[in-house]
Amino acid sequence: MKIILADSAGFCFGVKRATNLAFDAADEYPNICSLGPIIHSPQVVKTLEEKGVRVIRKVEDIDRGAVIIRSHGITAEELDIIHERNLKIVDATCPFVKKAQDYATKLCNEGYSVVLVGEKDHPEVQGIISYTRGGEVFVVADCKEAQRLPSRPKLGVVAQTTQSFKNLQQVSDVCLGKSKEVRIFNTICDATSVRQNEARKIAREADLMLVVGGFNSANTTRLAQICQEIQPKTFHVETAEQIKEAWFSGVESVGITAGASTPRWIIDQVVERVSAMSK
Ligand code: F3S
Repeated sequence: MKIILADSAGFCFGVKRATNLAFDAADEYPNICSLGPIIHSPQVVKTLEEKGVRVIRKVEDIDRGAVIIRSHGITAEELDIIHERNLKIVDATCPFVKKAQDYATKLCNEGYSVVLVGEKDHPEVQGIISYTRGGEVFVVADCKEAQRLPSRPKLGVVAQTTQSFKNLQQVSDVCLGKSKEVRIFNTICDATSVRQNEARKIAREADLMLVVGGFNSANTTRLAQICQEIQPKTFHVETAEQIKEAWFSGVESVGITAGASTPRWIIDQVVERVSAMSK
């Protein structure tokens, strides 16, 4: 069987950085936790747990030691509590997420009402809103929701990092009809679209697609959906052990991609397992 492995498979810049910081911090601090799982990979979270990094869901439950802030950031209120408790901070917030937080704050400080393009319940979006410290922020998922925005003298647009450029463009267009002054910051990170475009391309060529990554990872699940629409023989697996030989009957080419939170060692094990079955 021919194996087509996506160049973009696996860790994005922000996840790689967060994971490295977490492993270094695990060696440095005897008492350490992460606020929520550091990334959406149960295998990485388990390895970190074995090195002493506990996962704590609520900041109120941390009273000492060091705390790792995950790549999509935390809210300003959570950060206040961390400072009040004098906890040591290992800030693994992705610099692209930090930029979106900073632009939202800047816009509010300069008198703009902020239009945040994104999913309102996502922790990254909640984080961005919180750094405006009570400023006017409208979260809109798409241009239809943007149509319902009230008019404002000044509107400032920012986006959740994983949004598509087209969506930001369409929302920004609507905003131009709602205000005489519109300021737009393109805070999109292209890691998501790069992975999705390459997955589409490979799914068109391969007889079977394997998408590797946490079942709790939204970006991996989305990659699997995209591939499934093109190649119905698409399987989402977390580990190499979950691959079944029966899937490969009559298959000549296998495409493999992985979400932005999938570590290289899991991708390598998947490639090894498929190669072994080809022999
Ligand atoms: Fe950062 Fe983009 Fe990854 S925002 S965490 S590099 S998907």
